[in-house]
Parts: sequence; C-alpha cells; structure tokens
Amino acid sequence: MVCSLFLAQSQFNDSPQGLQSILFYLTPVAIGIAAVLAYLQHSWITPVKRLERILMDVSSGRVPRSFIIQGAPIFTKIAAYLEKLSDNQHRLTQQISEEESNLQAILRSMVEGVMIVDKDHVIREVNDAFRRQFSINHNPVHRTVLEVVRVVAIEEMVTETLRSVEPQSREISLDSYTPDQPPRYFDVSAVPIRYDLATAEEVVLVFHDISRLKQLEDVRREFVANVSHELRTPLSIFRGYLETLLDNPKMPSQELNRILEIMQKHSIRLNALVNDLLTLARLESRKLTLEPTPIQLELFVKQLTTDFRSKLEEHQLSIVVNIPADLPLLEADPFRVEQVLYNLLDNSIKYSNPHTSIQIKARVQDEAIMIQVSDDGIGIPPADIPHIFERFYRVDKARSRDAGGTGLGLSIVKHIVQLHHGRVEAQSELGKGTTITVYFPLVPEKIEK
Ligand SMILES: Nc1ncnc2c1ncn2[C@@H]1O[C@H](COP(=O)(O)OP(=O)(O)OP(=O)(O)O)[C@@H](O)[C@H]1O
Ligand SMILES: [Mg+2]
Repeated sequence: MVCSLFLAQSQFNDSPQGLQSILFYLTPVAIGIAAVLAYLQHSWITPVKRLERILMDVSSGRVPRSFIIQGAPIFTKIAAYLEKLSDNQHRLTQQISEEESNLQAILRSMVEGVMIVDKDHVIREVNDAFRRQFSINHNPVHRTVLEVVRVVAIEEMVTETLRSVEPQSREISLDSYTPDQPPRYFDVSAVPIRYDLATAEEVVLVFHDISRLKQLEDVRREFVANVSHELRTPLSIFRGYLETLLDNPKMPSQELNRILEIMQKHSIRLNALVNDLLTLARLESRKLTLEPTPIQLELFVKQLTTDFRSKLEEHQLSIVVNIPADLPLLEADPFRVEQVLYNLLDNSIKYSNPHTSIQIKARVQDEAIMIQVSDDGIGIPPADIPHIFERFYRVDKARSRDAGGTGLGLSIVKHIVQLHHGRVEAQSELGKGTTITVYFPLVPEKIEK
C-alpha cells in the first residue's frame, strides 16, 4: 500500500488535481485503518487490559469490583469462568478460616495439652493447656521439641512416631521445676499425620495430666498400709493371748483376768478404729446427707460434758464452758456436731496433764459460730501442726497409741466441718497447750443437705 501511494504521488504530485486525487484515494484508506484500530481497541486491547486487572485481583485473593468485560465474546466467557473461580476461591478461603478458628477453639477448650510437630521436630502449634503444663511463657512455635520441653522421652516419641508412622502412647514423669512440688505424671499419645501412606509429615502429641490420679493411688496405697498396720497390732495380741489360754487351760484366775482385760481393751480399740474408718468412709462418700437442725449450743455442750464426767475425773481434769446464752442457734447436724466436740474433748483429755483445765468457748465471728476447745496440755510441735488433720497422722506414735489413738479423730472433725461449709484451725505451743477452733457458717442456706 505504501508503494502504491508513492506511485500515485509521483504520478500526480505535479498538479493540484494530483493532490486531490491522492486525498481521494487516501481518505477511505485512513478511515479503514481508523476503523480497524478502533475495532482492535474496543474488542481486544481494552478487554485484555481489563482481563489483566481482574487476573491480578483474583490471583492476589481480592474480589474484583466487576467481572464484566466488554469486547470480543471470548472475553465475556473468560470473565464468567473467572467469576466462578473467584467465588470458589473465596468460599474455600472462608471455609479454611472457619476450620482454623474451629480448631483454635477446640485447642483452647481442651484440658489436655496439645503440641503439633513437623518432621524436623519443629513445633508448629501448641495450645494454652500445653503452655500451662510445661510452664512456658514464650511462644514455642518454630523451636524444636527438645529446646522447649527438654524431656528426652517426648523427643523419642516424636522420632518413633515419624519412623513407624504408627500411633504411640507412653506414661512419662516430669520432675518438678521447684523442689517443694511433687513430680508430675502424663499419659502422652502421639499420632502421625500422613499425607501419603508411607511417611508422616507431622505428629500430634496430646498430654493428659494424670498426677492427681497417681496421687490418689498413693493415698489409697498408704491408707491400706495404715489400716493393715493398725489392725495387725490388736489382732496379733489376740492371737498371742488366745494361744496362751489354749496352752494353759488351768491358768490361775488372777492371770486369766489380766489377760481378758488386755483383750477387752484391744477389742474396744479395734471397735473404735472400725467405727472411725466407717465414719470417714461415709463422710468422704458423696452419699452422706446432713440433717441440719437448730441447736442451742450452751445446752448441747453442757449435756455432752456430763458424758465425759467420769473420764475427766479419771484424768483429774476440770472443764470450763463459756458460751453466751443468747448465742444464735447453730444450724447444723446435731449428730455430726457431737462427733466434732467429742473428738476435740477426747484429744484434750488424752493429751493433757492432770490438774489442768479444758475450756470450751463459743461466739459469733466472721459470719460464723466459732467453737473453741482449748487445753493446757502437752501441745504440738510447730512442724506437726499442718499435718494433724491428715488421716492416721499422730505426732508421737507411741504415746498416741498408748492413749488409744489411731490418728483419725481430727480428720473426721475436718470432714464434718467442711461438709457444713465451715473451717477448722489449730494453734498450739509445745508444753503449753492446744486450741482447736471450728467455724460453722451462720447462714443456713450454705449448708449442704
Ligand atoms: N489437744 C491436743 N494436744 C496435743 N496433741 C494433740 C491434741 N489434739 C491432737 N493432737 C495430736 O494430733 C494427732 C492427731 O489427732 P487425732 O485426734 O486425729 O488422732 P488421735 O487422737 O491420735 O487418734 P483418734 O482420735 O483417732 O483416736 C494426735 O495423735 C496428737 O499427736
Ligand atoms: Mg483424737
């Protein structure tokens, strides 16, 4: 076309008519070119630019303002596909973030610690329970298992799970970070997460704290050992004396009486032990129901002390009761309150020196009725005071056993007071005396029926 234009120019450029002829030929050509360019611009160039803009938005996760592309029909089709693709992508992103927040909620609500580790033993995720269990204050993510938990057994579990691609479980014990705390025990399960059948990409470890269970197991074992020990003494005495009686059928009556008296004393002790054990078992089981009744404490204590008259005389002890007559009625189970006072008085009598006195006081204090039993007896060493409410705890084993004690009385007292939502305290000075104070709440609604 350029050639022909040159030809036309060389033929006609000498005359004005020539120029006219050139224009005559050129105008439609220029119009044609302009039309082609306009067509290209509208149907292809603008839509391609628009398409590029939409693709940029979709690829960076944004939703374009519109998917309408005007131009060649193919663009309308492409735009429709892109709109579908963007919708799907948007839905998928939403689904992933919902699942992620669900997972986070589950992890947060779990009491078990959870740690997710990748195949390089690098931590990917942990929950709050895990941080608490291992006292972790920093963010452990992106650090290795050993760096964070410093327990070889856990590291070995990760290695074994990744190697075998099989779930593992193990019980591990952790020494406490502070010396005064007991060691902690965990049931740990490790489960591989596999993206194909042969290899594991990640390991999920779940830490179930079983320290409390272990502690209860220890308490139970100790309890059985204590009971067996307490039963063994009187039973071996019975057996010994029964054998003596069988071997000597003609034993002088004085000797016989002495033996029978010892056997009676031990049978009384055995009976008291079994009764205390039954009381404790009932108090500790949730089945026990209290029967609260309004108690006029002054009268109640006076009646109780008359039951102790002969015992007090035997130990040459006096008793002083100081309870105001206008004290509000005590809303509590009378049978259980009697057990509390009986045990406290029994202790004061057992651990007092002759010619001293025992005081029983009561008054309202801290929205509770406070009852105090004090004596001027042998007292309790400071190191033993925190333990005297434990089952079978006796300060001086030999002396207490001589006095007929098994170390269950004060734990019965504590249980009864706690069942009434009250509390018990002990103050004592070695060689000077002991005061045990119990508080029964004044508000009757607080008492468990
Ligand atoms: N008033 C007290 N004075 C001195 N020591 C006391 C007194 N009360 C309790 N104790 C000490 O606390 C220990 C625990 O008391 P607790 O009443 O539980 O057992 P116990 O009197 O030995 O036996 P139990 O009451 O079962 O017959 C006693 O062995 C004794 O050493
Ligand atoms: Mg006692």
